[in-house]
Amino acid sequence: MASFLDRRSFLKQSFAFSALASGFHTLPALASAPDPAARHVLLVGDWGWDSNIAGQARTAEQMVSYAGTHQIRPEALLMLGDSWYGPMPHGIHDLRWKVQFEDMYPASAFPGPVYSIMGNHDYQRMPEDVTKTEMELSYARQPGTRWTQPALWYTFDLPQANPLLHVIALDSNTTQGHETNAVDFTLTPAQQATQLSWLAAELEKPRRAPFLVVLGHHPIFSNGPHGDHKTLIAEWEPLLRKHNVDFYFAGHDHDLQHLEFEGHPTSFVCSGAGGADLYDLKIPESKRGPFAEKVYGFSHLEATPDKVILRHIAADGRVVHAFSKTSKGAVTILS
Ligand SMILES: [Fe+2]
Repeated sequence: MASFLDRRSFLKQSFAFSALASGFHTLPALASAPDPAARHVLLVGDWGWDSNIAGQARTAEQMVSYAGTHQIRPEALLMLGDSWYGPMPHGIHDLRWKVQFEDMYPASAFPGPVYSIMGNHDYQRMPEDVTKTEMELSYARQPGTRWTQPALWYTFDLPQANPLLHVIALDSNTTQGHETNAVDFTLTPAQQATQLSWLAAELEKPRRAPFLVVLGHHPIFSNGPHGDHKTLIAEWEPLLRKHNVDFYFAGHDHDLQHLEFEGHPTSFVCSGAGGADLYDLKIPESKRGPFAEKVYGFSHLEATPDKVILRHIAADGRVVHAFSKTSKGAVTILS
């Protein structure tokens, strides 16, 4: 516990310090004008609400509209987990795949691969014998599908040739602190340990792209109701710091966030506002930020060899937050 507190103390966020140290300032023109010559990726999480899909529909329509307006042809979509709340009684043939995936995020706008990671709601039985995790991995094995998840944890490059981003996609459904019952389950302790060893080994490999990205459904740090994640702080955060991981992208909290910590190389981004019910933030951005907002929306990552711009886009089309990060780690708030 002492080391946890020490680390938390060291991580004590100081936006004022960060602002002074890295020259944060507002550059609204850059925030609103994507560069069509750059490489683009859209991220969205927590969209698979089963009782009311109005929020998902509004957000997905804006993703299509945004890509069209800015003439962006995304390399990929990144789905940050909780893709399927509730039962999927017909498995890969369930109508929800057409309604809530294929039609919401159409191949006409998003022809590239759609990379998926598992959220806690994906870790549920359907409630038949087959789990939703097995169903999603099966959907990805179908010939010609855009849905891409070869394993519970895996890596990929964006773009696939001459990559700008190397992405390590993880399964954050750790055993600690999660309810398990007849419906809900998690990784086993053995799987969790195996993944952690694999992650450490992956991060030891030489860099293969200017930017290194880690994905996990659960935020490590969050201003939302789920808060900071003690297990991920203990197991993953030291590795992100040691290996200068540029971005950690998560969902789980149904909001849009961007957190920076003094002296930490990683920008922590939450994009879990794709459709499920929104919840109040627990910590305002004035206390820990620079940004946290309870709003439906998605995120747009624009990459060039020396800079990434990350924009949070609300479902009504507003750019609610944007920042850039250079390959040397300098963060600038753009809006
Ligand atoms: Fe979740």
